Amino acid sequence: MVYLTRRETFNAAHKLYNNKWTEEQNIEVFGKCANKNWHGHNYELFVTVKGNPNPDTGFIMNVKDLSRIIKKEIIDKLDHKNLNVDVDLIPENIMPSTENLAVIIWDILNPLIKDAILHSVKLVETENIFVEYFG
Ligand code: NI
Repeated sequence: MVYLTRRETFNAAHKLYNNKWTEEQNIEVFGKCANKNWHGHNYELFVTVKGNPNPDTGFIMNVKDLSRIIKKEIIDKLDHKNLNVDVDLIPENIMPSTENLAVIIWDILNPLIKDAILHSVKLVETENIFVEYFG
């Protein structure tokens, strides 16, 4: 089994804020991410697929196809957006955390990747924090 990863980037604004809590509770739990007037992240998305190389191409899947799917279905919808208010693929009742975003991205990509098996979605929020989801 061989693993192939495509990296894409996007930037987006969000805030993590639970309306059921007081402002103090929100700041205690979410820290700077609770800032009322939003803040942004430069996200890095790593999508890894696995499979055996096709004898005719040597590829698990055509990485251009993988890139096209990620760009069309994910990057074009998230890049330069406000994740709390602009983005249909994140339901209104779902906190736009990196964890939830990784799961949403997996659920969108998984049925669209035909030539290989989706192995993981890794979403890097800052140089020190990232999330990995394996389905
Ligand atoms: Ni944040």
